[in-house]
Amino acid sequence: MAAVKGDAYGHGARVVAAALDSDVDALAVAALEEAVELTDAGCESPIVLLEGILDAGEIDDVAARGDVLVLHDDWQLAALEAARPGTAIAVWIKLDTGMNRLGFDPDRAKDLLARVSACSHLEHIGWMTHLARADDPADPFTNQQLDVFAQAIEGLPGQRTIANSGGMVGWPAAHADWVRPGLLLYGASPVCGKPAESLGLQPGMTVRSRLISVRNLAAGAAIGYGGTYVCDRPMQVGVVAVGYGDGYPRHAGTGTPVLIQAAGGAATVPMLGRVSMDMITVDLTDAPSAQVGDTVTLWGEGLSIEAVAEHAGTISYDLMCGLTSRVRYRHANA
Ligand SMILES: Cc1ncc(COP(=O)(O)O)c(C=O)c1O
Repeated sequence: MAAVKGDAYGHGARVVAAALDSDVDALAVAALEEAVELTDAGCESPIVLLEGILDAGEIDDVAARGDVLVLHDDWQLAALEAARPGTAIAVWIKLDTGMNRLGFDPDRAKDLLARVSACSHLEHIGWMTHLARADDPADPFTNQQLDVFAQAIEGLPGQRTIANSGGMVGWPAAHADWVRPGLLLYGASPVCGKPAESLGLQPGMTVRSRLISVRNLAAGAAIGYGGTYVCDRPMQVGVVAVGYGDGYPRHAGTGTPVLIQAAGGAATVPMLGRVSMDMITVDLTDAPSAQVGDTVTLWGEGLSIEAVAEHAGTISYDLMCGLTSRVRYRHANA
């Protein structure tokens, strides 16, 4: 079940989902509007709404479209019991095994199954839960969640799905009948401390811009808004045409890595000072041949998104999803 919500984690849901469509058993999104977009793009895989209906008024559309629902709350169950859709709706029942976000109390599994089974317009596919700490292979909490899930549904019919990307990589016991990768599909590491390359992943997204100015600054010159970086020596600095107006993280600080493709070779150099809306400034000491027009990679091929995210105090998901409409997309092999 490929997670393509959030515009396929910022990669472009229409293109990504169409490319995955024939290789997956289902596509997963957060909301009906996202599902409609995938259908418009020609996708034929079943589409799972990971948060189910967001209001009761969606039930008829969901039934008519044949989308699959995750059922996680009593108000949804009551709405579905009261509905009389033209065709049956397939549902996964979600149990809260410790994430404390969505899902029913595991003790209610048997009762929930009885209620769903009593509705001729509902078809029970199986059981879902979500892992809270699967990105840390050393955290025993995942095993607790697996135990709670297994005990709650022991002997009950239906398929099982537990693992997101972190669960797929770090927790084989979580693989069950269906896995639900998101981040892994996009080539970033879902496990803390494990670089993407060590897992055989390739970045799906590379964000590039260009050097638009190369400057020689004197010792003592303060760079950018707030003058937060002060040159401690005469320095050659470059200005790159990217900023928070493009989705480059505003909180990336001095030292965030940036890859310059200079004529004399590629060099990873540190960012200096604050991120502006349209620009960042970089230290070109280690890229002396850099010149205006050189390609600059902000993350992706050659520069791990995890490293950039860490410097910005965030996660790769956030960077991927945060690109703005000003960024021009080019989909390779699409
Ligand atoms: C229920 C559910 N399953 C799977 C995923 C995919 O997660 P990941 O991108 O960590 O693989 C998500 C994403 O948040 C989710 O909410």
